[in-house]
Amino acid sequence: EEKILARVEEMRAQAHLGGGLKRIQAQHNKGKLTARERVELLLDPGSLIEYDTFVEHQCTDFGMDKNKIIGDGVITGHGTINGRRIFVFSQDFTTFGGSLSKMHALKICKVMDKAMLVGAPVVGLNDSGGARIQEGVDSLAGYAEIFQRNVLSSGVVPQISLIMGPCAGGAVYSPALTDFTFMVRDTSYLFVTGPDVVKAVCNEDVTQEELGGAKAHTVLSGVAHAAFENDIEAIQRTRDFIDYLPLSNREKAPVRFTDDSPTREDLSLNHIIPADSTKAYDMRDVITRLIDDGIFFEIMPDYAKNIVIGFARMAGRTVSIVGNQPLVSSGVLDINSSVKAARFVRFCDSFNIPIITLVDVPGFLPGTAQEHNGIIRHGAKLLYAYAEATVPKITVITRKAYGGAYDVMSSKHLRGDINYSWPTGEIAVMGAKGAVEIIFRHVEDRTQAENEYIDNNKFVSNLINLIVAIDLTEKFANPVPAAQRGFIDDIILPSVTRKRIIEDLVVLENKQLPIIYKKHDNCPL
Ligand code: COA
Repeated sequence: EEKILARVEEMRAQAHLGGGLKRIQAQHNKGKLTARERVELLLDPGSLIEYDTFVEHQCTDFGMDKNKIIGDGVITGHGTINGRRIFVFSQDFTTFGGSLSKMHALKICKVMDKAMLVGAPVVGLNDSGGARIQEGVDSLAGYAEIFQRNVLSSGVVPQISLIMGPCAGGAVYSPALTDFTFMVRDTSYLFVTGPDVVKAVCNEDVTQEELGGAKAHTVLSGVAHAAFENDIEAIQRTRDFIDYLPLSNREKAPVRFTDDSPTREDLSLNHIIPADSTKAYDMRDVITRLIDDGIFFEIMPDYAKNIVIGFARMAGRTVSIVGNQPLVSSGVLDINSSVKAARFVRFCDSFNIPIITLVDVPGFLPGTAQEHNGIIRHGAKLLYAYAEATVPKITVITRKAYGGAYDVMSSKHLRGDINYSWPTGEIAVMGAKGAVEIIFRHVEDRTQAENEYIDNNKFVSNLINLIVAIDLTEKFANPVPAAQRGFIDDIILPSVTRKRIIEDLVVLENKQLPIIYKKHDNCPL
């Protein structure tokens, strides 16, 4: 017995060395931590319970039977983050380049299965040369086993991928199926086919970094949700991030203590909207004034910046925020911003996180580029996501809410629970300029007509005498008509918005909406 114990300890020590000191040094030289160092930083100190430490690959081809490394290139198990149970796998680049063998895949599958069984998130730290080439189709099978579990876990337990080195070929699709993908700048990349294949097939010269580095995916493709400077920052921010989320769809997000009073009023909000309604302001300045301690975990901050999404807390409880961003393209909705917000709304709805929507939207972006690339299909995703969501939905119109975009942005008609407007709200089919272009298209002096549309009760001209008897300003450029119809529950002073939202969150805490049975929905894709 003692002999076995001694052998086990020896094997454990060997497993801790992964591919050996030389390769660990090479990993450090690249500015990367090892798989084990990462797990230890991610989890509360000493909380890692490791599984399958002694697993080895079963491959006998290409001399692999004589080339085994204990653990087979991935560390798996569970531990806690701020006291809450999390399952984890961390690929070890020092062992066969972190490449995925059958046994490596089965180790990952085991923690994914356990996480589903007990209802706990899975965090995957990816650093891998892809499919273990020596294992051929066995390793492809391994990927698909993981994909299947990613899909079954979707909407049941949160899944987070950290990309901390290479992630190429089939390997990219597991992160793609998870809820959030974070990258490390300069040391991580994601692509389906690497620069060599791109050169051969497309005759394009491109570096790994340009093709699939953090910038490419957080700015251009929207594949990744955030990028961090180094391994340590990425892991620390992931710990913060996990703290916003419930452990599973059966639970609510944790409540964290705050000194920030739930009744705090912010008078500066009363002046935050510029007097000139064509002037921009930063929606993040509104957000940080409403939430606890001004702490906002923004998701995809560098992609489709015309919409802002992220997590925060109000009275200690997690909320999600979606806000049009007037600072970028007037906050217009386009393909990328619709898709960005839609997936976020669906995540929050899956995991019982209330959605607070701040609306200042001039409409959908016109143009052939948008139409031909399918703004109808993609815009429908956001509409669908809001309409489908049954979590508490609180909407505040800060300024513009025009046209179809008014409907989309968590309007009362899409089962918005509480819909407010600030006095600066402009709820209309379109802005005055656009309206004049259409209603008065035969009038030569449009500017004059436009002014009259905006601010008069006057008789405008013979051509338009059917409509001008109405005060157009009153009809279009303020929130009263919508409030008169009950589409807006109240017109509130900006300064009391935090207080009102928190009161509503308490009222809505146990909201329940029956869901009609279906196998699954057919959300536009
Ligand atoms: N299968 C088996 N072993 C692999 C591997 C794979 N897919 N990817 C890397 N390795 C091994 C390498 O043989 C090397 O082993 P060694 O330490 O015994 O010499 C070790 O992992 C490190 O790889 P190396 O190429 O030295 O690291 P690098 O940082 O220079 O390059 C990659 C990293 C990922 C770009 C490179 O390893 C690569 O191109 N790998 C193959 C990718 C691929 O085609 N995967 C299959 C399709 S998904």
